[in-house]
Amino acid sequence: MKHFITLADFSAQEIIKILDLSVRVKKEPVKYQEALKGDCIGLIFEKPSLRTKTAFYAGAFQLGAGALYYAPDEIKLGVRETIADVGRNLSRFLDAIVLRTFAHEKVVELARFSTVPVINGLSDLVHPSQILADIMTIEEIKGDIRKMKAAYIGDGDNVCHSLLEAFSILGGNLHVATPKKYQPQNDIVEAAKKRCAGSGAVICLTDSPSDAARDADVIYTDVWISMGKEKEKKHRLKTFKNFQVNSKLLSLAKKEAIVMHCLPAHRGEEITDEVIDGKQSVVFEQAENRLHTAKAILLYTSGKD
Ligand code: CP
Ligand code: NVA
Repeated sequence: MKHFITLADFSAQEIIKILDLSVRVKKEPVKYQEALKGDCIGLIFEKPSLRTKTAFYAGAFQLGAGALYYAPDEIKLGVRETIADVGRNLSRFLDAIVLRTFAHEKVVELARFSTVPVINGLSDLVHPSQILADIMTIEEIKGDIRKMKAAYIGDGDNVCHSLLEAFSILGGNLHVATPKKYQPQNDIVEAAKKRCAGSGAVICLTDSPSDAARDADVIYTDVWISMGKEKEKKHRLKTFKNFQVNSKLLSLAKKEAIVMHCLPAHRGEEITDEVIDGKQSVVFEQAENRLHTAKAILLYTSGKD
């Protein structure tokens, strides 16, 4: 049984296998249009979503499967009934479950009791399906991830954590610039650093956006106020103000550097209109690759790849 909970659960070979499948699915969608015929996947979302919901919903449909969407207040995991019972029930109806939630432990708990694959569609800790699409995008546009210097500028959040996992597993040079108080979680950083010797990755943490951005091939940012952190908005806007991806910061990167953002963007906060709408931005290619990687994740976890 293959769940898809965090990238740290996978070897470089396994991640490459899913990425290769994503490329094939993108190139020849018709070949896979009946691959999951008769299946039905469930999408439990306890937070809002545009891309993840659409990628898995449309992705399932394009693979011949159906999809059911459960809105935030519908299932009430652990409130209306236990997470274990939700897993036991849904496993009798569905072929895979995508869960977007707050506490990462909820994804782990659901997986423990599900006899069908559980796919993490974002938790407070990690966002693995996003980062697969990001690596696919970098490799499509810039080439081998292992030859890249990527700079992540902003909050040491779920997206940053999954980037740390991906780079440390696959190899590549990732510089993370965050305010000191918003560094990525220590256990994720330590685990990532331990993997570097084996993968050849380089992981650097700094509180200087310009040090991270200098000579980078990829500049990546995410919102300063993640879903669920809205109450901290005022404090965060103040703390992060020097971490904006703007033309001045971008000018420090390589001339051909690409700009990435998982989206949604809070324009004028973590990124300026000029940069996100500029020539170097690949955010919509990145968004599109959410579809192809979602399809590959569904195929891979189903064992029908
Ligand atoms: N990037 C991403 O996960 O987008 P959504 O929150 O819209 O799904
Ligand atoms: N860090 C963001 C990512 C959104 C896709 C959040 O959790 O809201």
